[in-house]
This record gives sequence, C-alpha cells and structure tokens, in this order.
Amino acid sequence: MRIAITGASGFVGRAVVTALQQQGHEVVRLVRSRDPAAGTAHWDAATGAVDTAALGAIDSVVHLAGENVAGGRWSKARKQRIADSRGPATLALCRTLASLPKPPRVLVAASAIGIYGDRGDEVLDERSAPGNGFLADVAKAWEAGAEPLRACGTRVVHLRIPMVLDPSGGALQRMLLPFRLGIGGPLGSGRQWVGWITRHDLVRVITTALADERYRGPVLATTPTPVTNREFVRALGKALHRPAFLPAPAFALRLLLGEMSDLLLFSQRPRPGVLPANGFVFDHAQIDTAFAAMFARSERTATS
Ligand SMILES: NC(=O)c1ccc[n+]([C@@H]2O[C@H](COP(=O)([O-])OP(=O)(O)OC[C@H]3O[C@@H](n4cnc5c(N)ncnc54)[C@H](OP(=O)(O)O)[C@@H]3O)[C@@H](O)[C@H]2O)c1
Repeated sequence: MRIAITGASGFVGRAVVTALQQQGHEVVRLVRSRDPAAGTAHWDAATGAVDTAALGAIDSVVHLAGENVAGGRWSKARKQRIADSRGPATLALCRTLASLPKPPRVLVAASAIGIYGDRGDEVLDERSAPGNGFLADVAKAWEAGAEPLRACGTRVVHLRIPMVLDPSGGALQRMLLPFRLGIGGPLGSGRQWVGWITRHDLVRVITTALADERYRGPVLATTPTPVTNREFVRALGKALHRPAFLPAPAFALRLLLGEMSDLLLFSQRPRPGVLPANGFVFDHAQIDTAFAAMFARSERTATS
C-alpha cells in the first residue's frame, strides 16, 4: 500500500514509519515544513491544503499530528494550539482528502482516552459516553473532524490512545530522571487509574487497524490491564531498582503545572472491547513485564 502519515516526526510516528516500511509499504510523510525531501509532501494544518502532486495516489492515511499536550504549561495560546491542531486541522485535512479524485480507503487517526474526562473507578469501553473538560472537548472535535471522509465511504478508525510507554520518549522518558534520582512517587492520591500501552504494541494496533476491515469507529488502544497511579509508580521504581515513595500532593501539582496537571490527576479506567473481540493479542499486557522488556531492550541498545 502507499500510505500517507501526519505527525511522522513524532514519538509514535517515527516508529510507525519504520514498521510500515519494514512491512514493504510505501510511506509518504505529510510534513508541515516546506522541506522538499524525498518521500514527503507538504500539508498546512491551518487550511488543510496538501501538495497533492507530491502526495500522489494513496490507499490509506495514518493521522497522528497534534501539538504536544505535555509540552509546557497550558497558557491560553498553548491551549488554542492544542485544540486547533486537532479538531479544525483534522476537519481541514479530511475535507482535502475527501476531494481527491480517489479518496483514501482507510483513515487510522489518533484520538485519546482523555475523551472520557475524569471518571474515577468507572470501567470505560468504546460504548461509554465521552466526558467533560478541555481534553475531552478537544478529543470530541478531533474525532468529529473525520466526518468528510466518513461521508465519502472511507473506513475511519479513531484510536483512543492512553499513555504510550517507551523509554525513548513521551511520558516515560520524562519520568525517568526523577525516578532514577529516587525522588519519584505517587501523584495526588495515587488512586487514579492510568491506561497504558507500550509503543511497540500501539504500532502493532495501528498496522492491524490499517489492514483489517473489521476495525471501524472508536477503538480503545489500551491494554485491558490499567493500573492505579500508585501501582504504576511502584512498578517503575521496581524496574529501575529505585525507591518510589515520595508523594507529590495534588495541590502542589496544580500549583506547579496549573490545568496541565489534569494529565496526571484525571482517572480513566479503560477496558478495550474491540481489540480483544478481533483477537488482538498484546505482546506486553502486564506493567511489570512491560517495563522489564523495555528497559532490557534500551540497555541492550545502549551497550551495543
Ligand atoms: N504519546 C502519548 O502518550 C499519547 C497519548 C494519547 C494520545 N496521543 C496522540 O497520538 C498522537 C501521536 O503522539 P506522539 O506522542 O507521537 O506526539 P508527538 O511526539 O508530540 O508528535 C506529534 C507530531 O505532530 C506534529 N505537530 C506538532 N505540533 C503540531 C501542530 N501545532 N499542528 C499540527 N501538527 C503538529 C509534529 O509532526 P511534524 O512536525 O512532522 O508535522 C509532531 O511530531 C498525537 O496526536 C497525540 O496527541 C499520544
């Protein structure tokens, strides 16, 4: 297949590009910079305009682009960028893709479990109603943005992604320094539920959803084994052979991070329905063994 991908330079996108190329697909990276590198086509996230000549005929699109939500305190301007780069950018891109002489057959698009808002101990699956709050509203608009492609018959998959784990980037990389210094610990009450998936498994979910016609609509791209924040930090401390007892009270996190602390304090307890129903088997479904596998691999990379 010839597959276009937005957000290809990101933490998830880089690994997706590698996997798709290894599977023999031709990948066109949709980039925002006017970089005429081979294998790229320019797109404008504000207008959705795409260099269609460079894009050529495509079978599928993987859409991962979006302003990083953990990239700094949520100032008014940053919140605007977080929102604009999801709902409106997706709508604009999908309008352009829908107007192509041959629209893509499949769109696999990132969404987030943040769509459920703060839900305590409630077990959430694809049928659960979305929640409230800034991230929930952003994610609702993000999924709705694919409407022009849905309307023209494209199979659209929304991956509701939880915390993606790999030591080379994302949330886990940011946690490593405090934990290695022995100053890691539970956040807030530590009772909030944390959904998670390794980047390795997320890439497998993305390539599976591209190829398998049964995937359509919202898909919880999470392991069926969420943990509480307290369990998560205990497992991370154990994997790094460091103490992880130093708590960070919710008020201190709110003071330090402002509204961005929602990312750490909100509780979502996902139980995926679609992935198990379609026979998807996670390579890493338990947090302890996931950490052990990831750190063993990064040590091997560091010493080779
Ligand atoms: N990582 C996680 O734990 C996690 C959890 C839930 C959901 N997700 C979602 O999954 C997607 C991929 O995550 P990631 O961790 O790979 O993200 P990332 O590392 O922040 O990369 C996102 C990519 O989006 C593009 N981008 C950045 N700012 C943008 C803007 N203002 N407008 C349009 N595009 C912009 C960039 O690619 P170019 O420069 O190449 O355009 C960037 O490399 C994101 O949409 C993210 O929200 C991730």
